Amino acid sequence: MGNENKYYFFNSQDFNLTDVKQMSSVISKIKPSILVNCAAYTDVDGAESDELISSKINEEGVRLLAGICYPNTKIIHISSDYVFDGCQSDPYTSDSQPNPLSIYGKSKLGGEIALKDSACDYLILRTSWVFSEFGRNFLKTIHKLSFQQSNLKVINDQIGTPTYAVDLAEAILYFINNDGFKKFSRSTLHFSGADSCSWYDFAKIIIRITKNKFDDVTLEKLGSISTSGFQQAAPRPKNSALKSDSYFNNLDCLNLPLEYKIEEVLDKIQEH
Ligand SMILES: NC(=O)c1ccc[n+]([C@@H]2O[C@H](COP(=O)([O-])OP(=O)(O)OC[C@H]3O[C@@H](n4cnc5c(N)ncnc54)[C@H](OP(=O)(O)O)[C@@H]3O)[C@@H](O)[C@H]2O)c1
Repeated sequence: MGNENKYYFFNSQDFNLTDVKQMSSVISKIKPSILVNCAAYTDVDGAESDELISSKINEEGVRLLAGICYPNTKIIHISSDYVFDGCQSDPYTSDSQPNPLSIYGKSKLGGEIALKDSACDYLILRTSWVFSEFGRNFLKTIHKLSFQQSNLKVINDQIGTPTYAVDLAEAILYFINNDGFKKFSRSTLHFSGADSCSWYDFAKIIIRITKNKFDDVTLEKLGSISTSGFQQAAPRPKNSALKSDSYFNNLDCLNLPLEYKIEEVLDKIQEH
């Protein structure tokens, strides 16, 4: 496959993981060779009080999707660092043993198992702590709060590997354009940013660069707080840093430090 690939994009109205009829109709009309599933129920804390919805979308939805895609459409499925319990100190590799702590993590692992149980050709691509100039994410929240508050406390004892969404998209395209399914049929790979840090370290960089670029920052003091002092419905892994698979080593984006990516996103936000 080369650059002549044709891409179709769907939102949750046009391609709903809970609607078999709709999904079947879209797949039989387009007949895609590859489907990239980025859709999920992603409210990590919300899932704790609504297990049904997260399993319906993240687990059952993926099971339905696999049934519809077999045998002609391969699936690239985005999964999460939250399938791990965070008890190990090194970054998790793609053959590490999952053991999710939260309902969300369990439902994401359920989606992985649904693919493994199916006859489909799939790639599970796990990533972590995704940020970009789009949608809602940690970088945008901290950036926004730095204009609204004078004090802020951020968790310092959860470690992850922040990943720029554009780099993740590049990794997916790299996989597609290099015929990745030939080598990694029915496999799991990890792709995340190269630097691991705590949410507090991540926030420190965001705020420093925000202060350099914008005049009206109100934030004066960034403090840190431990997980036990911060009320969150869902338990989170202490360490969910991922080690990207060596397959992605050729990608230039993995050679740039997190700071550079944050700067890039804040530049884009500034332009708007
Ligand atoms: N963000 C992270 O840090 C992170 C880390 C690891 C893995 N991931 C994984 O990366 C993927 C994308 O996450 P994200 O952060 O971009 O989440 P997001 O912003 O919440 O996007 C999820 C998307 O899924 C759609 N969706 C929800 N329910 C659906 C359904 N029943 N049928 C079809 N689409 C549905 C949502 O549409 P609506 O907006 O219309 O509801 C939304 O467009 C997910 O698989 C997530 O588990 C994310």
